[in-house]
Amino acid sequence: MEKFVIHGGKPLVGEVEISGAKNAAVAILPATILAGGKCVIENLPNISDVSASVDILSAMGAHVRVINKHTLEIDTAHITATSVPNELSRQMRASYYFLGALLGRFGKATVAMPGGCNLGPRPIDQHLKAFVALGAKDSVEYGMISVESDSLRGEDVFFDTVSVGATINAMLAAVMAEGQTVLENVAKEPHIVDVANFLNMMGADVRGAGTDVIKIRGVKQMHGCTYSIIPDQIEAGSYMVAATITGGNVLIKNVIPKHLEPITSKLEKAGATIEEFDDSLRVYRTGDLEPLNIKTMPHPGFPTDMQPLMTVLLTLAKGTSIITEGIWENRFRYVDELTRMGANIQVDGRVAVIEGVQELLPAPMRAADLRAGAALVVAALAANGVSEVDEICHIERGYEDIVEKLRGLGADIKRVEKPAGVLRQAAL
Ligand code: EPU
Repeated sequence: MEKFVIHGGKPLVGEVEISGAKNAAVAILPATILAGGKCVIENLPNISDVSASVDILSAMGAHVRVINKHTLEIDTAHITATSVPNELSRQMRASYYFLGALLGRFGKATVAMPGGCNLGPRPIDQHLKAFVALGAKDSVEYGMISVESDSLRGEDVFFDTVSVGATINAMLAAVMAEGQTVLENVAKEPHIVDVANFLNMMGADVRGAGTDVIKIRGVKQMHGCTYSIIPDQIEAGSYMVAATITGGNVLIKNVIPKHLEPITSKLEKAGATIEEFDDSLRVYRTGDLEPLNIKTMPHPGFPTDMQPLMTVLLTLAKGTSIITEGIWENRFRYVDELTRMGANIQVDGRVAVIEGVQELLPAPMRAADLRAGAALVVAALAANGVSEVDEICHIERGYEDIVEKLRGLGADIKRVEKPAGVLRQAAL
C-alpha cells in the first residue's frame, strides 16, 4: 500500500508534457481485435488501466510487443477466444469495450457484467440496445454478459441517453455489420472522434463522429495500421487547475487546445490567464480566484471528469460558487475530505455550494476514485504544510508519472510505502 506525501504551498512553475488520452486508449486497445492483424499504437499512456487492457488482449491470444514506453505492436490475428476471463475484466470498467469488439469480429462475446462504481450506478442498457438493434441476442449468467449474432446487420439506433461508452461500443459492433448503421444522439467527446479515426485507419467507413449523428457503412474486412492516440484532455485540465490554484506559471505541452476549450473558458473566468499555442498552453494567475457556476454536461459542455478539480479550485475563490453534476449521481464523495482541510462546501444531491475560504489546511486524505484522488492531490499542493493522500491506486489508473511530472514543476511530493497496520503485520 502506498500514499503520496505532499508538502504544499508553493506555486507550480515549469513545463509538463501531457500523455495520451486514457479514455481513448481503453477503447482503441480492444478495437485492435477488429484488425485481425498487426496494429502499432503510439502515445499510449503508461497507466494501470492500459496495462489491464493489454493483459486482457494477451490472455485472449494477442501477441503484444513493447516498442517503447508509449508504443505497442499488437497482433490480434491469432485471437480465437471470445470470452474475457472474469478476473481480468473486473479489473477495469471499460472492459465492456471487448463486448463490441469481439461481437464485431466474431459475432459473439462474453465479458463480466460491469458493476456499479464509486460514481453511482453505471448501467449499460444503451450499449445492449445498440447490439440488439444490430441483430444480437443478449443474456446474463453468473455475472457474465453474453452477446451473440449469426450475422450483424446495419440499423438505425437512437440512444435514449448520450453515452460515451455506448457510442463507442456501437461503432465497434457496427463497422463490419452488413449495410448501413445510423447512430443518433451520440456522444461527441474528442475520444469518440479518435476511436472513429482509428477504425477508419483500419479500413472502416465511419462518418460524422464529433456530431450528433454517426453513419457507418459496414465493410467486409479490416486490417492493421499505425495510430497515435490524442493527448489526454482531463490530464491537461488537471495540470491547468494545479497551475491556477497555486498561482503558478506552467507551460502544458502536447495538447490540442481546441479540446480544452470548455475547461479554458471556465478557468479564465476563475482568474487564470491562458495563452494558446499550436500544441501547448501557458497557464498562470496573478490576481484573485473568482467564484463560478458550473454544470457538467456531455461534450462540448464542461466535462464531469474535471468537476472534483474545479471544486477544489473554487474552495479558495472570493465568494460563492455552485457546481451541478449533470452526469453521475454520486460524484461528491471527496467533499468530506476537503471539509477536513477547512473548505466550506454544502452538498445537496447533485449540487454543491462552495463558499470560498482564505486557505486550505493540510490534512491526511483518502482518494475515493480517480478524479477525486487527483483533486485531493491538487488541494494538497495548495495547502501550506504536509498533507497525505491515501488509496493512490485510483490515481495511478489514469495519471502517468504524476509524482515525476509534479516534481518537474517544483512540487514537493513523494510516494511512500505505508507501514502495515497492526492487524496486517500480525497476519504477515
Ligand atoms: N448511461 C446509461 N445507460 C448506458 C450508459 C450510460 O444510463 O447504457 C448513463 C450513465 O449512468 C451516466 C451517463 O449515461 O449517467 C453517461 O455515461 P457514459 O456512458 O457517457 O459514461 P462511460 O462511458 O461509462 C466515460 C468515461 C468516464 C466519464 C464518462 C462521461 C471511459 C472509460 N470512462 O464513462 O470517465 O466520466 O464517460 O464523460 O471512457 C474517468 O475517466 O474518470 C471517468 C469516469
